[in-house]
Amino acid sequence: MPLNFTRRQFARAGAAVSLAALLPRSIFSNTTAAKKAVVHADSEIGTVRPEFHSHFAEHLGSCTYGGIWVGKKSPIENIDGFRKATVDYLKELGVPVLRWPGGCFADDYHWREGIGPAEKRPRRVNVNWGKYVEDNSFGTHEFLGFCKLIGSQPYLAANVGTGSPQEVRDWIEYCNFPKGTALSEERAANGSPEPFRVRYWGIGNELWGCGGNFLPQAAAAEFRRYATFARLVGDQDRDNSVYLVGCGPSGDDSNWTRGFMDSIGNGPRPNGFSMHYYEGGSNDPVEFTPENMYTQLNLFPRVEQSLIHQRTLLDGYDPNRQIGLILDEWGVWDQLRDNSRGRLWQQSSMRSAVAAGLGLNIFNRQADKLFMCNIAQLINVLQSVLLTDGPEGGNCVRTTTYYAFMLFKPHRSKQALRVEYDGSALPAQGFGRGGGGRGGQPAPPPELSVSASRQGSQMVISFVNPRHDVDMEVDCAIRGAAARNGTAQILHDADINAFNGFDNPDRVTIRKHDVAVEADRIRITLPAMSVATVTLQVA
Ligand code: AHR
Repeated sequence: MPLNFTRRQFARAGAAVSLAALLPRSIFSNTTAAKKAVVHADSEIGTVRPEFHSHFAEHLGSCTYGGIWVGKKSPIENIDGFRKATVDYLKELGVPVLRWPGGCFADDYHWREGIGPAEKRPRRVNVNWGKYVEDNSFGTHEFLGFCKLIGSQPYLAANVGTGSPQEVRDWIEYCNFPKGTALSEERAANGSPEPFRVRYWGIGNELWGCGGNFLPQAAAAEFRRYATFARLVGDQDRDNSVYLVGCGPSGDDSNWTRGFMDSIGNGPRPNGFSMHYYEGGSNDPVEFTPENMYTQLNLFPRVEQSLIHQRTLLDGYDPNRQIGLILDEWGVWDQLRDNSRGRLWQQSSMRSAVAAGLGLNIFNRQADKLFMCNIAQLINVLQSVLLTDGPEGGNCVRTTTYYAFMLFKPHRSKQALRVEYDGSALPAQGFGRGGGGRGGQPAPPPELSVSASRQGSQMVISFVNPRHDVDMEVDCAIRGAAARNGTAQILHDADINAFNGFDNPDRVTIRKHDVAVEADRIRITLPAMSVATVTLQVA
């Protein structure tokens, strides 16, 4: 239910000293709006699984080649061929799960071509992303080595479109079978005697599109066939059974989900069901107007509705929620015309950080419905957390999106809490076919967004102010717990197009912020275009 309070009521509620007055004048040049929020400390939604903060890396542009992998002989500082800055920054951020090698690329990828001596690996054309030639120097061992280096769980997307059930079951055996078979011995001979124990396996990607243009019934039939053999080999090790992800819809496509699940019947059933929902933008990443930005940001309530709706549809087939809903591609997808740094190289601006905050708040609020979320993509492609100046560029910067993810890190593994706030009611709208990186609809400016979580005496509350022209004075009540003290951090730039460039890498970074803490409430001022996290000690 939306909570409406006038400015006078806000003032009467005890905001004797405006926090705005305590902060540098320059960041408050807009109108100010009083906002109310309530965090229900005794009403838990579900665990904020660290997997909600997962990522995705494809053989696309300079994501894998150049971003992750520069090669052992590169003049760029590297650890066994992995770009060192990438490793360092990702270790600091923490990447719970990393999906690879696509994307559309996955359904044209044959894993055997990426193992063994690098000089003997075949060169192949990347048909999806520019028809450039790849040398397969980055393959299974390199990817799994990278995951180990950054402390990430791998999620391999297996080929259905141009592959076979045999190819997938062999890849699983190669990765996971301990020893004594030709494939496990081959893995050992290639340098990895210990099994990799890869748990997450995607059975095809976007089978409704680049993965083979299947109808949902046919995609389900493929899943049943592939899963039969994948499980036969993958469940040898009881403690490490494979988790198989079936291909879900583009956006909120109910026909796909119904068609797929009707045809899955009694199975084999997927462990996870993946949907994709991109938030398309109509401009170059650093040339957004407020109106264009609002059109894009207003897709987020649709994302939230879609997650609720898709979970509801799945519940009809899976009332005990044994199938995990996975959003394994999401993020802003702007207009990209310049390929000089690699295909889909996209700058991340203050607008992108706000978008990340809106998404991550949704995942907290819908924690009971989600299993994993993977933003697209890790580095140099779409809404990445790191950018290099091309595949051969020595510079690497942490984007605004990196810092937005950092602000949400304290929520990981805590229990999400129910929140109410001005604007929390989702607007009534139909469930259309969303996603796919194809723009949005004009809509009014988005509102305040809030989420919260708690573990024992620590509570974390995140706020997003997506308005370019309104500072928000938020009076946030806490019910069911008493706050003792707290600290706040903020990511903010008044310019919606501000970004961390190679000549100004620290323009938009996390800073300390003021928060007033009373037993039953906190008060925080959110400048226009900001993402803030408050960490409280509560009793
Ligand atoms: O992330 C870029 C592409 O978007 C992926 O390859 C595909 O799965 C989606 O359409």
